Amino acid sequence: MKLAYLSLTGNVRDFVEKTGIRSIEIHYNGPYEEVNEPFIVIVPSYDEMITETVRSFVQFGRNEEYLIGFAGSGNLNFDGDYCFNAKDLSTLFQKPLLYTFEFSGTESDVQHFKEELSHYAGAGTK
Ligand SMILES: Cc1cc2nc3c(=O)[nH]c(=O)nc-3n(C[C@H](O)[C@H](O)[C@H](O)COP(=O)(O)O)c2cc1C
Repeated sequence: MKLAYLSLTGNVRDFVEKTGIRSIEIHYNGPYEEVNEPFIVIVPSYDEMITETVRSFVQFGRNEEYLIGFAGSGNLNFDGDYCFNAKDLSTLFQKPLLYTFEFSGTESDVQHFKEELSHYAGAGTK
């Protein structure tokens, strides 16, 4: 299993590095690449363009066939819009929202996120 992440100011990248899980970065302006194995997408929250960029990535090549679900990074001060991009993508692709965290996450967030992933061990979480 891999993580595919988008990060504009580095918080999501830091979180991904703390997990120690193999990853690829989704670049805001592309080009996109095929993951070719089960993966989870982690996105920050900004505006609709984040959803559109990740939608294009997921729909690139055969990526959607390998998509497990989403996680989101945000800021709770945004209240009802907290992690809205990850939530919208989860609805759009009918895949679970596995975890949300603020900024680059705490050690506890990393642990809980990895526990969620362990439910998908059959997809190669180790
Ligand atoms: C202009 C701007 C808009 C943001 N909008 C939201 C938002 O609507 N909801 C939310 O939960 N977080 C929002 N955030 C917080 C970021 O999503 C959060 O800091 C995230 O960790 C950034 O990840 P990155 O550093 O990997 O890009 C916003 C931050 C900025 C600077």
